[in-house]
Amino acid sequence: MTDTVHALVEAADRGHGDVAATVEEIGLRNVAATLVNEIIFRAHLEDLAAAESARVCSLVITLTHRGQEVSAIVSVGHEGVEIGKTARTTDIPPTRIVQDVCETVLALYGPCERITSASREIRWPSPHTMVSRLVNGPAVPRLFHAVVQRVVQILERDRPVHLTDLAVRHGTDKWSFLHQYTQHYQRHFAPLRDRRVKICEIGVGGYGDAEAGGGSLSMWKEFFPRGLVYGVDIADKRVLDRPRITTIQADQSDPEALRSMAEKFGPFDIVIDDGSHMSPHVISSFKTLFPYLTENGIYAIEDLHGSYWPELFGGSEDDLNSPDFTVGFLKQLVDGLNHEELLEREKRAAQSTDKLIKGIHFYHNLAFIDKGRNEEGSPLAFALREAPEILGLKDYNE
Ligand SMILES: C[S@@+](CC[C@H](N)C(=O)[O-])C[C@H]1O[C@@H](n2cnc3c(N)ncnc32)[C@H](O)[C@@H]1O
Repeated sequence: MTDTVHALVEAADRGHGDVAATVEEIGLRNVAATLVNEIIFRAHLEDLAAAESARVCSLVITLTHRGQEVSAIVSVGHEGVEIGKTARTTDIPPTRIVQDVCETVLALYGPCERITSASREIRWPSPHTMVSRLVNGPAVPRLFHAVVQRVVQILERDRPVHLTDLAVRHGTDKWSFLHQYTQHYQRHFAPLRDRRVKICEIGVGGYGDAEAGGGSLSMWKEFFPRGLVYGVDIADKRVLDRPRITTIQADQSDPEALRSMAEKFGPFDIVIDDGSHMSPHVISSFKTLFPYLTENGIYAIEDLHGSYWPELFGGSEDDLNSPDFTVGFLKQLVDGLNHEELLEREKRAAQSTDKLIKGIHFYHNLAFIDKGRNEEGSPLAFALREAPEILGLKDYNE
């Protein structure tokens, strides 16, 4: 399913013709299974079920392609959400949503401007059933309409999403009693939401327990509907792999391991370091992965407290400007940001990132580094350095 979803995301970026060719190549059945899986992941029908615990309602999703069709029945009720071949016992027949498969691929994975619903048909149960219930009762359960509405909302990609909600839902501590990072991620990542991003996070979570963790990877998968998410962890986390989520076992302190991971899966639009939080690891990971960040990519580093705390993370407060510790290292990048303003350039060794970092943002315990061209020039610094007389400062160098 992972290969299928990657192929569909790429094809959706290129347009309808490529999507149709990909569907032909992969087969309608496989594509439909991937799409239904994605719809159910995004729809959170279990919330609706919880609100109406005594009911079970079913919905049929039918995807069509050149005269063929494939259907999946989704049942929602007190036992949760089930995708199967037959509907669970319900007191009302299922509604059917029918849509062309290529249009559905574009709606889920294409750029926003490609979302259409020209082929969509909602086939409600027969008028006989529905009108008779309207007149004679029992009333149509709210769940019946809510399930259809939620799936349509996913197909139109107009379900509002906030990272704080997603953090709590998917169980990452990015918003919790420990941290309130999601407000900052929301601000920095919102403009990228509908792009076909590749995001790599160091630190899957759950430490040595192979099945635990992955909360933030699921959060990113939902936040970036067209995103491909890669999680790096020192522990083997492959059981957490899902469509659009791939985990890689690697020690972030090993530059070669990170490099070969990035050669295979990068370049990335976003890298997040939420791994060991040990300064030497954080700094060497940044040095290794920054070149694998796309031109306007964003590199985030969490839990800066690792820079200060000796016991837990080998940090130090002795010299807060030391480049051997994460925060001191980042402060040096701030000087690099202003490299064109320095008058006595010989006092500071130029760094390879000076011209490649266009923004640095600090929040409590969290930093973002924006990659981008940093060569605006500084006419005033030039004049102060090279030709003070044009500023009327004839004696400047004396
Ligand atoms: C705080 S958890 C990550 C939480 C997750 N990002 C989230 O927000 O839900 C830290 C993870 O980093 C992993 N880790 C620790 N040291 C590492 C290293 N040297 N290289 C890669 N991963 C490491 C741990 O196994 C653990 O699963």
